[in-house]
Amino acid sequence: LASIEVDVSAIQPGQAIKTIFRKQPLFVRHLTPQEIQAAQAVPVGELRDPQTLEERTAEGKTQWLITMGVCTHLGCVPLGAAEGENRGEFGGYFCPCHGSHYDTAARIRKGPAPTNLEVPEYEFTSDTIVQIG
Ligand code: FES
Repeated sequence: LASIEVDVSAIQPGQAIKTIFRKQPLFVRHLTPQEIQAAQAVPVGELRDPQTLEERTAEGKTQWLITMGVCTHLGCVPLGAAEGENRGEFGGYFCPCHGSHYDTAARIRKGPAPTNLEVPEYEFTSDTIVQIG
């Protein structure tokens, strides 16, 4: 299966982009320090799909949140990767189809989705280039 390379150098803290990976939407988000803190402050045991931000990001790169843009409920594309879109009650992503709210680690926090947004396999090949897949 094909890999893609994404240049993240133009994505400012607080911004996200939506691209396409293997015919599905992929979100690449540059978290702000506040968003990182918010994700780290959540007691993991209270989560429906318990994972830390560190488990969902590359080592030493907790500011880069890279996930599929596919709601784990029934597959809609959540909002929140484009400027001005509703990011939901937990500041991450919001799926308007049936109201799933994801937090700043793209973990499911409220609504019907059973699991967090999927993190694909990826690797940073330089400070600003990430190879997905
Ligand atoms: Fe996202 Fe149902 S598809 S909440």
